[in-house]
Amino acid sequence: MNTVLVGAQWGDEGKGKVIDFLTEEADVVVRFQGGSNAGHTVVVGDKKYVLHLVPSGVLHDGKHCVIGNGVVMDPFDLMKELEQVESWGFDLRGRFHISERAQMVMQWHRALDRAEEAARPAGRKIGTTGRGIGPAYAAKVGRCGMRVGDILKPNFLDLVRDCVEEANLKLRALGAQPIDPGEMAKLYAPMVPALMPYVTDTIQFLHQNLEAKKSILFEGAQATMLDIDFGTYPFVTSSNPTAGGACTGSGISPRAIDRVIGVLKLYTTRVGEGPFPTELTGPEGEVLRRRGGEFGATTGRPRRCGWFDAVIARYAQRVNGVDFWAMTKLDVLDEFPVVRICTGYRRADGFVYTTFPADLDALAACEPVYEDLPGWQCSTSSVTDYSELPENAKAYVNRILELIGGKLGVLSVGPARETTLRVGI
Ligand code: GDP
Ligand code: IMO
Ligand code: MG
Repeated sequence: MNTVLVGAQWGDEGKGKVIDFLTEEADVVVRFQGGSNAGHTVVVGDKKYVLHLVPSGVLHDGKHCVIGNGVVMDPFDLMKELEQVESWGFDLRGRFHISERAQMVMQWHRALDRAEEAARPAGRKIGTTGRGIGPAYAAKVGRCGMRVGDILKPNFLDLVRDCVEEANLKLRALGAQPIDPGEMAKLYAPMVPALMPYVTDTIQFLHQNLEAKKSILFEGAQATMLDIDFGTYPFVTSSNPTAGGACTGSGISPRAIDRVIGVLKLYTTRVGEGPFPTELTGPEGEVLRRRGGEFGATTGRPRRCGWFDAVIARYAQRVNGVDFWAMTKLDVLDEFPVVRICTGYRRADGFVYTTFPADLDALAACEPVYEDLPGWQCSTSSVTDYSELPENAKAYVNRILELIGGKLGVLSVGPARETTLRVGI
């Protein structure tokens, strides 16, 4: 059984937690896009683990973890994270693999990320994580990127110097400090022996696993509404976090995928700039932020919070072909007397969009249309079986499923591993 797991909203839906849960029955977990802009949290007992580049399956000894070709990987971030994972007591030997085709995020990509963001006029700022993601992907498609496999070449450090010279042209144009190519060559030289043991042909590795009928779990980072093609462009990340990205970012065929799981928070959050139709800027938003602990796992920024948006969830169901939903954070809604679901966006002339419009100016001129449901006003965090949930909570979940399509597979009622209810998968 090969499963692709994707975020269905603007990220931080609880993908890390669900991946950790599904890893029990997987042999290999693969990251296929994004980089250390991701922050995936797994809570086991009283320990909280946050992963950025290393697949969230790493917390299960013996499972293989792969950084696929679609990822942009900062070697310094990776080394720090690998050390951390080992300090937590997990043995990585022989089970962590990096694609030689993956792109590297270099120091100058981070400098460009900062400089480009600073140069963007008000209203065009993206609020990036500052991890160099956009410039690294721009270098990839501009065919001037550095691939992980380049570290194996004798002229690796010459390539570093050449790429710095090229980046300096842009940094100077942006009024930012240029970078010393010699310093960079010195900085990256120790990365060669550090990365070398992990670098491999992961396409070959994954296909061997497919042939041996092993189960592969593809861990999406970011989410559908942050997708470079399907998201709220330009307020998006620079990769394809949607299901198709699992193929292009790992080298497996769409035919090898057996099911797609979408992770859906039962309200909505967003970090960074960009449209958010159901955002609550007043006290209700504060309540969601406080109860949901909505602060970025990577940057610590407070997340913007709002009601559940069925328009984007249905869009995500279609774009990804979601078979099963993993719905998270039901417990955060426990105390609300009324829970709201957005079913459309109403324009001033009365027209209601029930599909997500590409034109963000048109969207900005709309008001969300809500359907109100009674809350359940009791705690769900110790529920261990779906049947024990309060009727109003079930009615909320069922109404959402009716509006968006797909089946319920997993329901999460708390941050810890044990608070995950298996429903239909
Ligand atoms: P990801 O980026 O999709 O992996 O999500 P993050 O880890 O950035 O954010 C999700 C946050 O919600 C983390 O702090 C999780 O520990 C927490 N979380 C996940 N599922 C639940 C849940 O069902 N209830 C509560 N209260 N917290 C949850
Ligand atoms: P996980 O995997 C939430 C957002 C940033 C910014 C935009 C572009 O934890 O769900 P980037 O640094 O990628 O160029 O920033 O995307 N963003 C995320 N928001 N969760 C994430 O990852 C995100 N990764 C990027 O806040 O708005
Ligand atoms: Mg996150």
